[in-house]
Amino acid sequence: MTGRQTSMSTSLAVEQQENMLSAARAAFQNAYAPYSHFRVGAAVLTYRDSLYQGCNVENASYGLTICAERAAIFAAVAAEGSDMKIRAIAVCTDRDQPCAPCGACRQVICELGPSAVVLFRGHSGPEQTTISNLLPEGFRL
Ligand code: THU
Repeated sequence: MTGRQTSMSTSLAVEQQENMLSAARAAFQNAYAPYSHFRVGAAVLTYRDSLYQGCNVENASYGLTICAERAAIFAAVAAEGSDMKIRAIAVCTDRDQPCAPCGACRQVICELGPSAVVLFRGHSGPEQTTISNLLPEGFRL
């Protein structure tokens, strides 16, 4: 990835970034998005060095829709258990437009990966940043 980088606390090797982005790209192919027609894919890299994919799954009762990022994160928790920690998360869509994670997903990333690296398409190309940059004052209980 050759895009802009903003306030990194952790950084990923280029090969790892490419792996994550292609896993996210593969994941959006499985999206169930008959209402928005906006397909999103995500890939989560954990500290155990495993990769988990997710895609958005919509519903006729719109509010039940799950975003790709949370689908991938929940798959990671299901596989690794409650101590799963996100090292990095990549997001891709089927569109040529910016796709930073939504606010709800940022909050979930923040809790399960407080120093997670986030990869997505920004306004001027691929971007690598951190969750603390995207959500500076995440909610904590
Ligand atoms: N969506 C995601 O999967 N991730 C986001 O961060 C924002 C939005 C999905 C939800 C819905 O299926 C579609 O994109 C349009 O909002």
